[in-house]
Amino acid sequence: MANTRKPLISGNWKMHYNHFEAIQTVQKLAYALTSEDYEEVDVSVHPPFTDIRSVQTVLQADDVPIALGAQNVHQEEKGAFTGEIAAGMLAKLDVTYVIVGHSERREIFGESDEIVNAKAIAVLKANMTPIVCCGETLEERQGGQAESKVASQIAGSLSNLTAEVVGELVIAYEPIWAIGTGETASSDDAQQMCAHIRSLVKDGWGAEAAAAVRIQYGGSVKPGNAPELMAQPDIDGALVGGAALDPEDFSRIVNYRLYQA
Ligand code: 13P
Repeated sequence: MANTRKPLISGNWKMHYNHFEAIQTVQKLAYALTSEDYEEVDVSVHPPFTDIRSVQTVLQADDVPIALGAQNVHQEEKGAFTGEIAAGMLAKLDVTYVIVGHSERREIFGESDEIVNAKAIAVLKANMTPIVCCGETLEERQGGQAESKVASQIAGSLSNLTAEVVGELVIAYEPIWAIGTGETASSDDAQQMCAHIRSLVKDGWGAEAAAAVRIQYGGSVKPGNAPELMAQPDIDGALVGGAALDPEDFSRIVNYRLYQA
């Protein structure tokens, strides 16, 4: 059956750019992308929290169809959680996609699958879409445990979600050893793991959810390797770090279809 999933290409800016720089970056990106691009690909940018309001204003003022995203969220609706941001606050700023369980959050800030699951549920409750991240370390890959690691992350992070909800999610497969290293998973390895993730979704939530869920690859995606990665049948998009900071590079990734795979 033909795949009807619309690709989603997301720029995770991580802790880069103040709100002035964010405005400039998103304006340049809007200038580089065309209405044809948005027909073919959903595009999101995930600036730091302090930039979101400014970016929202730019996108709204010029009716730019780039979706606004966040990089993280707290799982509680409100309360005494100094320094945290609730999903409802992001929804009020027209945020559409929220990354949960990025490996940097899991590794540096100790987020467990249970927390990631609670965050995904908080995002869904606020009518936004979580981008749920998973991925193995280099040791796990070398030890032949990549698939089992990802399987346990998927089971834990998506626990208690219905098939209908899982079909509408975005899952990002980001092998930790490929993030920020310039080392990309080969398109075969990336495809293999994304197909594995789809089969896990099928086993856990059924064929319909598996056919609908969008799976992104992330880890040193650049204009040069995007066409080959995007040509894989189970890769439905990219979660881009470093290359998303440069509007020209990011727009070329969004335009992957114009380049040879
Ligand atoms: P890089 O594209 O810089 O490897 O980062 C990937 C990533 O972590 C996106 O979330």
